[in-house]
Amino acid sequence: MLSQLLLDLPSITIHSQNYAGHQQVSCRNLRFGAIALLLLSSALSGQAVSLEERSSNLQNATESSFVWTIQDTYAGKTFFDTFTFFTYPDPTHGTVNYTTADFAFANGLAYVDDNGTVFMKGDDTTQLAAGVYRNSVRISSQAQYNTGLFILDLNRAPWGCGVWPAWWTVGGGQWPYTGEIDIIEGVHDNEHNQVTWHTGPNCTLTQNANFTGTIVTTNGQPNLDCDGNNNGNAGCGITEWSQASYGPTFDAAGGGVFAMKWDDTGIAVWSFYRQAVPQDVVQGEPSPDLWGPPVALLEPTGCDPIANFVNHSIVFDITFCGDWAGNSYATSGCPGTCPDRLMDPANFVNASWSINSLKVYKKVSLIGVTNGAGFGHPVSWSVIGMLALLSLISMAI
Ligand SMILES: *[C@@H]1O[C@H](CO)[C@@H](O)[C@H](O)[C@H]1NC(C)=O
Ligand SMILES: *[C@@H]1O[C@H](CO)[C@@H](O)[C@H](O)[C@H]1NC(C)=O
Ligand SMILES: *[C@@H]1O[C@H](CO)[C@@H](O)[C@H](O)[C@H]1NC(C)=O
Ligand SMILES: *[C@@H]1O[C@H](CO)[C@@H](O)[C@H](O)[C@H]1NC(C)=O
Ligand SMILES: *[C@@H]1O[C@H](CO)[C@@H](O)[C@H](O)[C@H]1NC(C)=O
Ligand SMILES: *[C@@H]1O[C@H](CO)[C@@H](O)[C@H](O)[C@H]1NC(C)=O
Ligand SMILES: *[C@@H]1O[C@H](CO)[C@@H](O)[C@H](O)[C@H]1NC(C)=O
Repeated sequence: MLSQLLLDLPSITIHSQNYAGHQQVSCRNLRFGAIALLLLSSALSGQAVSLEERSSNLQNATESSFVWTIQDTYAGKTFFDTFTFFTYPDPTHGTVNYTTADFAFANGLAYVDDNGTVFMKGDDTTQLAAGVYRNSVRISSQAQYNTGLFILDLNRAPWGCGVWPAWWTVGGGQWPYTGEIDIIEGVHDNEHNQVTWHTGPNCTLTQNANFTGTIVTTNGQPNLDCDGNNNGNAGCGITEWSQASYGPTFDAAGGGVFAMKWDDTGIAVWSFYRQAVPQDVVQGEPSPDLWGPPVALLEPTGCDPIANFVNHSIVFDITFCGDWAGNSYATSGCPGTCPDRLMDPANFVNASWSINSLKVYKKVSLIGVTNGAGFGHPVSWSVIGMLALLSLISMAI
């Protein structure tokens, strides 16, 4: 909540309030203040202390106790190694030519710079004749997921008149029955990100759920039906309230972090403007419980998040015109027509992704660890050590 409220404030305020917010959260969650002090004064490593903080954040010692630990990191020179380039016509009818990996690398549409920053771009150098499709990139992760915490740290997301980018996940097998989760999506120079789910017939948004965004309307009514076969595949969407969540303001601020959490408690999305990224995310030890209500949430009461979302790949794309950017062009305030806009490469200078990292975390149960399961995982030993210390100190007290 705090970090999201801060999105539109000047950076100096953000720093101090974010820090204060973090402190407040830590205190609330330290159930054993005395133990915490002892732990801190016994010169434990930073990791042990933060694990202690994270586990004490869990309500009690039932089977609900877990931490999110790293599963896959996509970053730097190896980023593209486990992604596949999609080269079919755009299913959403964009006037785009999705290029092969070889072509994209050779023509500067996909690359990693000397700092390890990952770029994907729409072609911004080629003048096109009328009716010719513009070159761009769409990639899918070879890995498939069936829950997880997906955290994208990026400097820029694509935008501009006629431009339609998305960062999303999509199920294997028959669309839409295995689900689609659109995490970052927008068109033109919009300033509000839209999160959308497309599913089979069994999913509705819970209107009064705890999220900060606004449900997208169809004919003036909130559209709660996520069925990809209804409403012209509108899906069920939630628009973020923050003006810094998409487009020019997001990029001007140096981007930020988007997180999508998918587990049996539902599917939730958060976004953080660069200056408001939580410390636990920066440190690679994410604790979504500390982030306040999400911007968007699909609750399990209206949609089984396991049955309706299966074998998801992670996708990035940049398309042009098409079903959304094309059909909305005339009312967008953008000049001319979308097909005319497509011809001049200067119109696409902001149509690029600049990514620091994409990390996928999985849930690891702490109870499983103490039972002896999960010993293969590196975090297990820290957790076991921490639990052992806690019990020693408890005995001492
Ligand atoms: C522990 O947490 C679980 C899940 O939140 C809850 O159902 C249970 O009642 C709690 N038990 C105690 C002793 O607080
Ligand atoms: C479309 O992309 C392919 C590479 O995937 C390239 O060979 C072809 O020239 C491109 N078409 C146009 C019109 O640029
Ligand atoms: C790498 O980062 C440094 C420091 O931020 C910056 O000055 C430099 O331009 C970057 N190099 C590239 C190739 O982007
Ligand atoms: C999901 O992937 C698993 C493993 O590849 C496969 O057995 C299963 O049939 C897939 N499910 C769907 C719905 O595609
Ligand atoms: C909404 O979530 C926040 C934290 O995520 C919590 O503090 C607050 O009590 C919740 N509100 C409701 C109405 O559940
Ligand atoms: C959707 O609902 C139908 C009818 O209740 C049921 O047969 C089907 O198994 C459900 N599918 C999923 C993915 O939950
Ligand atoms: C690209 O971004 C810059 C900086 O916000 C802006 O001034 C320019 O108008 C944008 N160009 C296009 C074509 O969107």
